[in-house]
Amino acid sequence: MANDREAAWAAAGSACAALVQDGMRVGLGTGRAATAGIRALGQRIDDEGLRVTGVPTSEASALVAADVGIPLGDAGMPLDLAFDGADAVDPAGLCVKGAGGAMVRERVLAHAAARFVVLVDAPKIVATLDDWGVLPIAVVPFAAADVMRELDDLAPDRRERDSDDAMALVDLHVPGGADWPAVAERVRALPGVLDHGLFRLVLGDVLIGHPDGTVTTAG
Ligand code: A5P
Repeated sequence: MANDREAAWAAAGSACAALVQDGMRVGLGTGRAATAGIRALGQRIDDEGLRVTGVPTSEASALVAADVGIPLGDAGMPLDLAFDGADAVDPAGLCVKGAGGAMVRERVLAHAAARFVVLVDAPKIVATLDDWGVLPIAVVPFAAADVMRELDDLAPDRRERDSDDAMALVDLHVPGGADWPAVAERVRALPGVLDHGLFRLVLGDVLIGHPDGTVTTAG
């Protein structure tokens, strides 16, 4: 099973790397699927001499990118493309990210990019986000206790490790049948909450890798 999933992420990663053109600035996501994309991009640099600049969404991804020879740049300029993984994607393109704790930088780069591509395998495609059930949020540490008290009905659980930007990471347990965008807006309105992990995706840019090496899209 683990090998099947790795094969699926590798397939999605290769398909994503194939979208990158010479000279592009590319946002590099965080997590297992994104890592497969980073490695595939490194392979194209090796094989074809592709020239790209990668902007990583985490220290972990920066390390992988450096390991495979992707020149790194800073955020602050538009990107041609950004790619990343996801925890769950529903049929309307609502998506939860942030199990890896990098969702703030991920949203920054998704916003900066002309195109945002998401790499998943089939188990990440869900009928409803209730099947995943967890919404991560990033909170200024000073506010974490207050925010968690305000969100007591969502069983907040602070992770031991803070984000790369030293934000507290808190997992909220969203009850079945909840209106996820409304929950996300309620949370974002609280003082001290920097961001949450709910994203809206273009379904045609959700690349679903399969263990046999094929790739389909969610729309
Ligand atoms: C990182 O913060 C996340 O948004 C990841 O992209 C997401 O958790 C998916 O990670 P995997 O590809 O490792 O499942």
